[in-house]
Amino acid sequence: MQPQAILVSELYARHAQGEDLTALGEIIIEGWVRTNRDSGSIGFLSINDGSCFKCIQAVYNSSLSNHEEISHILTGAALYLRGNIVLTPDMPQPFEIHPVEVKVLGEVDPDYPLQKKRHSLEYLREIAHLRPRTNTFLALYRVRSVLALGIHEFFQSKGFVYVHTPELTGNDAEGAGQVFTVTTPDDKGKSSETDFFGKKVSLTVSGQLHVEAFALAFRDVYTFGPTFRAEKSNTPRHASEFWMIEPEIAFADLEDDMNLMEETIKFCIRYVLEKCPEEMAFFSGKFMTPGLIDKLNAVLARPFRRMEYTEGIELLKEAVKNGHKFENPNIEWGMDLQSEHERYLTEEVVKGPMFLINYPKDIKAFYMRENDDGKTVAACDCLVPGEGEIIGGSQREERYDILKAKMDKIGNTDGLEWYLNLRKYGGCIHSGFGIGFDRLLMYLTGVNNIRDSEPFPRTSSQIKY
Ligand code: 4AD
Ligand code: MG
Repeated sequence: MQPQAILVSELYARHAQGEDLTALGEIIIEGWVRTNRDSGSIGFLSINDGSCFKCIQAVYNSSLSNHEEISHILTGAALYLRGNIVLTPDMPQPFEIHPVEVKVLGEVDPDYPLQKKRHSLEYLREIAHLRPRTNTFLALYRVRSVLALGIHEFFQSKGFVYVHTPELTGNDAEGAGQVFTVTTPDDKGKSSETDFFGKKVSLTVSGQLHVEAFALAFRDVYTFGPTFRAEKSNTPRHASEFWMIEPEIAFADLEDDMNLMEETIKFCIRYVLEKCPEEMAFFSGKFMTPGLIDKLNAVLARPFRRMEYTEGIELLKEAVKNGHKFENPNIEWGMDLQSEHERYLTEEVVKGPMFLINYPKDIKAFYMRENDDGKTVAACDCLVPGEGEIIGGSQREERYDILKAKMDKIGNTDGLEWYLNLRKYGGCIHSGFGIGFDRLLMYLTGVNNIRDSEPFPRTSSQIKY
């Protein structure tokens, strides 16, 4: 029988199911060298084939025809190994491969930037094309992939319809004006009117406005895709390109919205713990964030606290009075909270995820529903320890006259008539939110810089890859 190539993940899975791997006979493994230790008569290669977090150990000796070459093979080289599985019940790893043939598929230069020692995350950011080969990033980007599927499973299992909202838009959904303009080449002298679309077009900052139109047809919908913001915030939480999950639900108010947010976060926690146990154990381990898994399990066990913005302001004022040092200590009703304020509330007061609700209308987007007090809107941010805001949401203004007056005032009615008109044609109460996917991944893995949670991050003045 011809030896079969097999994935290391499959070996571990079949072993876990009680299969005797020695019965496979000769098999083929292809992967990259993590370490190579040669002590003359016997050598040990640790091989990662990318299929799972764990490596397989290959034990070789001088019977290899190219023993000299293999004994000097460096970390990073790509190898083909043919041999038999040997069970090693007394060792940390349950089995290893004893190759009878090892071929070098891809050599590695001695200046390979990844060596056996631990590298700092900052150093690895400089070699974004190689960092997926390290434990941290193998774990992180697998969780990222699994979590993306989890999001779809969650919403689809609840009957939500997935909407592909456009990346090119003629409006700035958040009204903040921090957009990347899209134009055609050699547009010298062209005005917006004569450019490709005949008007100013930008990369979307949010799919919300478009997804609202679909919520008013399908009831429960979501969009999940890249969004772009041209804000020059140089923080560990801001990227110029990031992914957002935006559910929108019809016949639903802020309360329903928060319930869905909480259910979503809890589902995601359970999902990654169940689907990525090894990766999550690594993130919870001594090199990363000890206690992470316990912390996530604790989050599952209790409801998220819901707190009025007004109460939040009182608590922050109190904190300043009691000597807590904020970079911005001028706390007053009406202010936009900085991340340090959000973190104080979620880390020091609530000690877990929370919702801050009913913000002053002047600091929030035009589409949020005005409350009866005339001063606040039915908005809600979900704040989590270590990060601050990871979700922003609201009940939408469904009353035509009120929304029109607001839009006229800020001057964005032009081009958004279709959005306003949704309120005339069977409009109903509806709500939605946006979860920053990259921030969610940071929260679940304890990784604290968005430059790590994104494979090839884009931030202002930073686009090396
Ligand atoms: O709070 P934001 O701006 O809300 C919206 O865009 C709404 N249209 C969402 C909705 O109601 N459908 O952004 C939502 C989330 C934030 O809570 C944050 O997690 C993430 O998107 N986010 C960013 N993530 C990374 N880098 C940035 N520059 C981000 N800006 C927002
Ligand atoms: Mg926000």
